[in-house]
Amino acid sequence: MAVTAGCASHSKSKASLSIEQIMEEGFKGKTSLSARISKGQGNEDDFKKMAFLTKELTLNKPSKGDLSSWTEKTTALKVAADSLAAGKPGALDGFKTAVNCKACHSVHKGD
Ligand code: HEC
Repeated sequence: MAVTAGCASHSKSKASLSIEQIMEEGFKGKTSLSARISKGQGNEDDFKKMAFLTKELTLNKPSKGDLSSWTEKTTALKVAADSLAAGKPGALDGFKTAVNCKACHSVHKGD
């Protein structure tokens, strides 16, 4: 089993990146990390970075919506990214399901 990205000293429970930063780093645009991974073009480094970014996402709190809904969505995403990093069968399908931009934005993204 692969270990999630980052070193042991990063195991604090406060996010070091904001949701906005995470979106910019990993999700925004057609050539983003998440887009490449969803197309099956991700490599091991991509999976590790995504595992890190989605862990950061779980440590954040959304300005909108229920925290329990947020925790559920972000944890599913993190588990999916961890599965990719660990090379688990079916991990890509799980990631594609979990990385539902609209489902999350409609509940948690303010305008
Ligand atoms: C688990 C929840 C979640 C998922 C999944 C998610 N987002 Fe977001 N996204 C957010 C939240 C919350 C914000 C609002 C952040 C803020 O302004 O505080 C946001 C903001 C954004 C922004 C604006 C960032 C900025 O610069 O202000 C972009 C662009 C974005 N998301 C793209 C995407 C794309 C593309 C996907 C899918 C591939 C995606 N997001 C998936 C939660 C999510």
